Amino acid sequence: MKLIDYGVRDDERPYIEEWSKDNNVEVKIVSDLLNPQTIEQAKGFDGVVAYQQLPYEPAIFDKMHDFDIHVLSLRNVGVDNVPFDALKKNDIKLTNVPSYSPTAIAEYSVTGLMILLRSMKSMIRKVDKHNFKWAPDIGRELNELTVGVAGTGRIGRAAIKIYQGFGAKVLAFDKYQNPDIEKQGLYVDSLEELLQKSDVVTLHLPSLGKGNTVINKDTIKGMKDNAIVVNTGRGDLINTQDLYDAVVSEKLAGAVLDVYENEVGIFNTDRSSEQLDDQLLSKMIDNPKIIVTPHIAFYTTTAVKNMATISLDSMMDELNNGKSDNEIDLN
Ligand code: COI
Repeated sequence: MKLIDYGVRDDERPYIEEWSKDNNVEVKIVSDLLNPQTIEQAKGFDGVVAYQQLPYEPAIFDKMHDFDIHVLSLRNVGVDNVPFDALKKNDIKLTNVPSYSPTAIAEYSVTGLMILLRSMKSMIRKVDKHNFKWAPDIGRELNELTVGVAGTGRIGRAAIKIYQGFGAKVLAFDKYQNPDIEKQGLYVDSLEELLQKSDVVTLHLPSLGKGNTVINKDTIKGMKDNAIVVNTGRGDLINTQDLYDAVVSEKLAGAVLDVYENEVGIFNTDRSSEQLDDQLLSKMIDNPKIIVTPHIAFYTTTAVKNMATISLDSMMDELNNGKSDNEIDLN
């Protein structure tokens, strides 16, 4: 078997090399992203592994079909940038890594929230300028707050445990209820109710499709005054302009955004020597009550290793046995 792995960053490379040695399977490591041109390099390989934020263009899959390659394994969880129809048309199966480290993301939710609750962004900016005054950056305590967890998949459930460990009151909402969370009596009946009752809302949902936002000017009206939004899920869950306006008008106390609806092409690039074209992003970065980070909630050694190796294991399951536990239902 010969596999080709696209869009590989330097931090992923050693794990892929180690897997290749341990499993005695050749893996060609390519730093290029997967597109209709770079897929040419896959000719003669048995399977394609990839990770990228840019959309996977349908023409890639026509080529894969021509090369008799019938499995695409993603190194990440989100499949919102994959055109399922093009895969189906070309008889290509898809796997993802549904659980590379739920705790990485759950821990990041609370990390970002703590940074915000203790006014660290503005405090650190002051200390950088040798201003050691306390006020006005007084903090709020997490143990006194109600945290609403939207989405109780693996990540949401890990977040619930952590927030409970801090002594916060936790409420939850999901269309698909989890028996453990239900047993604890944490579920409210609707997302609206979750927003109404929470001091902090942390989003652990997949993308609901463009324009289908959970946080927008209408839903913000129903939120508590001084509430905080934490998003480590997908940027398009939020109408960012509406959220920004609500922080500036002091309806909301702040936001932690590790994902942003217009992040593709900006996050994980170095723009330090240029002006940002994205005015909204610039304003959010300036605002002490908005913590912006470049989609790094997942970015731990544990998660990166699991993404690199589980995607390859899933590929081998597909190639050897015609199925994998991580196969995505394309219908
Ligand atoms: C995903 O796994 O889909 C993520 O959002 C993390 C990604 C940046 C690797």
